[in-house]
Amino acid sequence: MNKSNADQPIGVFDSGIGGLTVVRSLRQLLPSEDICYLGDEARYPYGTKSAETIRRYAHEDTEFLLDRGVKMVIVACHSASSAALPFLKKDFNLPVIGVIEPGARTAVATTRNKRIGVIGTAATISAGEYERAILSADSSVRVIAKSTPLFVPLVEEGWLEGSVTDQVIATYLTSLKEDKIDTLLLGCTHYPLLKPALAGFFGTGVKLVDSGDETARVALEILSKMDLLRSENRKGMSRFYLTDLSPNFRTVGERFLGSPIQDVTRVSVKYEA
Ligand code: DGL
Repeated sequence: MNKSNADQPIGVFDSGIGGLTVVRSLRQLLPSEDICYLGDEARYPYGTKSAETIRRYAHEDTEFLLDRGVKMVIVACHSASSAALPFLKKDFNLPVIGVIEPGARTAVATTRNKRIGVIGTAATISAGEYERAILSADSSVRVIAKSTPLFVPLVEEGWLEGSVTDQVIATYLTSLKEDKIDTLLLGCTHYPLLKPALAGFFGTGVKLVDSGDETARVALEILSKMDLLRSENRKGMSRFYLTDLSPNFRTVGERFLGSPIQDVTRVSVKYEA
């Protein structure tokens, strides 16, 4: 990569459309940049799959973005960041960043009592990468990790608040409340949409941390260090590639992106036997 690559888009991929929350943060911080987004809707979800399968998918997703000439790849999916990031960094010759380190750093900077709760899909929590990243930033922190897989379909269904959602939250998270965490790291693309309901459950004593904004800051830092930021002051364009166009992708996607989704193309990524 050299300065002549600066006009190329930033590539972002996720298992589906939850990663659009990261695109939202990127657009705010880096408004001139073009974004090329791949949502692997056809193989969604990743969070219930084995690390080996997620790694294979992540590899193919990265190759797809590379074929579109991206200058950087952001793994917006927490399950894929947990299972595949070191492999992608090793196998591809361009900057690849994930959401784990940025989220962990923010959580460590946020906690006062050094008790951090981490929630995510089964794949993310069983990989233990958040725990490792938090402890390597501050080994005196106590990390309490819990998989909360039902939060994903609740968000997809638009049940962001209400009695069912409150009951699921209480069932999963009462033990974290009893453990007196003061920071909760939302380790999944979908969970930022549950912030009001989670804040209602924990009250003001628990800060909710998500990695979207910090990941965008890391992208800015790396692009600037590599002299790969677009110099021209113009409004960046976003292109969205999805491996399936489910009937409700637009409604759900716009909830994550916070604005209308235009320029959507259905694509296939390479499927290995
Ligand atoms: N994008 C996934 C994550 O952040 C959530 C949805 C899935 O399981 O694929 O872990």
